[in-house]
Amino acid sequence: MEDRIRIAAGTLLQVYADIDLLALELCSDRLPFAPSAEARRALMTQIEEEVVHFSIQERTLETIGMPFTPTLALDKRNVIKMWFSHLDWYEFLGGLQLGIEGIGISVVEKVATAAGPIFQESLRIPISDERRQASFGVLEWRGLLSRLNTQEKAKQREGLLNIFERIYLMTEEALPVPFEQYWNDLGLEKDDLWETVRDRTRKILHQIGLEPDLPASFVA
Ligand SMILES: [Fe+2]
Repeated sequence: MEDRIRIAAGTLLQVYADIDLLALELCSDRLPFAPSAEARRALMTQIEEEVVHFSIQERTLETIGMPFTPTLALDKRNVIKMWFSHLDWYEFLGGLQLGIEGIGISVVEKVATAAGPIFQESLRIPISDERRQASFGVLEWRGLLSRLNTQEKAKQREGLLNIFERIYLMTEEALPVPFEQYWNDLGLEKDDLWETVRDRTRKILHQIGLEPDLPASFVA
């Protein structure tokens, strides 16, 4: 494997492994405050999945000579965790299951394909699990929106777009990684990836029953 590819894909895999751990932490922080036994079970299932995801990435990183090191510094991690801790149940699902898992995975899918078979295999199980995690968020949001009138739905839509934008800005702020350089090393263009993110966002808005069109400023 060419060293430029190994370092680009390896560094991105470090980030994904660290986000698996962050998702695990966010789910465990939310466990005592889950609104129902069913919701708690969904969080516990995700925790089990994130342990598996991290273990797979950790092994792959060992095999390519880039042992896992955290990308998210403790202070940045705590800023994100504190922000999530102040969200209500649906906002939490909007941020983690819809935002990080549902939309973020669209970039991981492209990187996995571009990085080659080792990374594709390493991300195969996480990508399928994260689709399931996102669909749990979609079902919960569909239930919420089915109980609201048009005005209330519009308010929820605005709040959800703000959550997505905030996740995007916090991630950019918290991850000191030259993403664009590594995407380019893998033959990926930032503009294409952003269009992928916007497409996935529209799809998720449509799936939960909201107007899918996005403001021009969204993740521009
Ligand atoms: Fe994961």
